[in-house]
Amino acid sequence: MVAALDINEQALQPLADEVGCRTFTCDVTDTTSVEVTFETVAADLGGLDILISNAGSAQQGAIGDLPMDTLRQSFELNFFGHQNACQAAIRIFRRQGRGGTILFNISNQSVNPGKDFGPYGIPKAATLALMRQYAIDHGKEGIRANGVNAGRIRTGLMTDQMIIDRAAARGMTPHEYMAGNLLGVEVLASDVADAFLHLALMDKVNAAVLTVDGGVMATSLR
Ligand SMILES: NC(=O)c1ccc[n+]([C@@H]2O[C@H](COP(=O)([O-])OP(=O)(O)OC[C@H]3O[C@@H](n4cnc5c(N)ncnc54)[C@H](O)[C@@H]3O)[C@@H](O)[C@H]2O)c1
Repeated sequence: MVAALDINEQALQPLADEVGCRTFTCDVTDTTSVEVTFETVAADLGGLDILISNAGSAQQGAIGDLPMDTLRQSFELNFFGHQNACQAAIRIFRRQGRGGTILFNISNQSVNPGKDFGPYGIPKAATLALMRQYAIDHGKEGIRANGVNAGRIRTGLMTDQMIIDRAAARGMTPHEYMAGNLLGVEVLASDVADAFLHLALMDKVNAAVLTVDGGVMATSLR
């Protein structure tokens, strides 16, 4: 059984219609909202086995000029949101006594920062460190922590208009921009979902990052 959580109720309905999951509104930047919702999910669904910590948004601005609030707000969601969700999950995993799996939606920005993308990439780099810390501190409890570093994916965060604008700024077509990787193909949200599924199933894989961007040497970890 799958539970989908989002701050935006309207974002949940299409998902519920498509995959038949249970939906819950939750603000991952609000510790009370997270604690209450996670306990409700565990009670309603009979427990918690896997957390995919996914919520994020992409703030931009030159790091030397941007308002401090932009950076702080991004950290609230792109770093502390993950920490809030993980702490709530750890409490439930411990109570259940059968380990658990935490998967982080990080970003290839965590290892390959883009110009004027500091407010997004810096908390993502911290979230990469957070994933490793969970693996170190909670592995002995049977809790695994892994992450996905995706590249450019067409979603609510990277809209069609944004793709057109960014491609034009680089003198590329939208297809060239989205398929700018070693395979020369656009990577889809469903490819990212597959990576999470495989990480969830591989029960000896821990503290790992799976890069899902069609192959880009600058983001390749090894
Ligand atoms: N799209 C990309 O190119 C790309 C690349 C690498 C990583 N990512 C990561 O993928 C994850 C999902 O993003 P997406 O691209 O699907 O964008 P999206 O905007 O479609 O999805 C993000 C979701 O997070 C929700 N959200 C925002 N603030 C929240 C909060 N406080 N509490 C709960 N939910 C909240 C939004 O309502 C939205 O539904 C993010 O962590 C993002 O950084 C995206």
